Amino acid sequence: MQHGVKKAVFPVAGYGTRFLPATKASPKEMLSLVDKPLIQYVVEEAVESGIDELVMVTGRHKRAIEDHFDIAFELEEDLKAKGKHDLLSEIQRIAEMATICYVRQKLALGLGHAVLTAKRVVNHEPFAVLLGDDIIRSDVPALKQMMDVHDRYSATVLAIQEVPRSQTGQYGIIDADKVAEGVYRLKDVVEKPPPDEAPSTLAIIGRYIFTPEIFTALEQTSPGKGGEIQLTDGIKRLSEDQPVYAYAFQGKRYDAGDKLGFLEATVEFGLRNEELGEQFREYLKRLTL
Ligand code: G1P
Repeated sequence: MQHGVKKAVFPVAGYGTRFLPATKASPKEMLSLVDKPLIQYVVEEAVESGIDELVMVTGRHKRAIEDHFDIAFELEEDLKAKGKHDLLSEIQRIAEMATICYVRQKLALGLGHAVLTAKRVVNHEPFAVLLGDDIIRSDVPALKQMMDVHDRYSATVLAIQEVPRSQTGQYGIIDADKVAEGVYRLKDVVEKPPPDEAPSTLAIIGRYIFTPEIFTALEQTSPGKGGEIQLTDGIKRLSEDQPVYAYAFQGKRYDAGDKLGFLEATVEFGLRNEELGEQFREYLKRLTL
């Protein structure tokens, strides 16, 4: 079946304050899990879901991301000359993966504002949004699972997962009615409520499929939590005009935007790595501090 979703937006303009000083001069999206930068994991998820038009909403100091997805002429020649063909084809594959266009978010006015910045490039069609802080390991790419739900309902679909009540302050939290296995229809959504005010423990994870009407909703959204234009507030506004669904995808999600979550992801991806996994497991077993 031909999916209606062809474009994906990646908001990558954030400062990465939580990872300072690592992110002082290089983008947090380029932090590496084992041997791949975070942004490559999410780009691959989109590409494996059948999307090949990518829009990065970028900012100052983000050149490394553009270079990563470009051809690297000297490096390629060098690898060729040294006969390192496996590395060469991996490097070339990254540049060939997708067409990426870059739009600059000139001011850091929030996630909702970042998505709105992509309006002119996305135009009037459904599109996906993927946040690089959320790395998802799954059999079927999480975005692909959501595209199937989108096909069924022709509506906006948010990725959700159950979180401990003590953590509601880190997420957009939904209030919703279950309508099918894993599928909920949104009644309300609030950005980062304290545990005693959270309408549920179903948290939005950084994968979204939007109908283009989200742009109008965001244009009408005033600054919310933290003085920023919140995507969550735009979703709430959108849900007043059309049905919005949430989908509890199958897969494990890592919060790579958080130091501890990043370390957890590093250990698990290290253990699962074909080349290093066994040795790394032995090392961890021997480790006593
Ligand atoms: C953003 C969104 C939040 C969502 C989260 C998912 O928050 O504002 O609603 O639950 O991503 O990772 P951030 O983590 O950027 O603070």
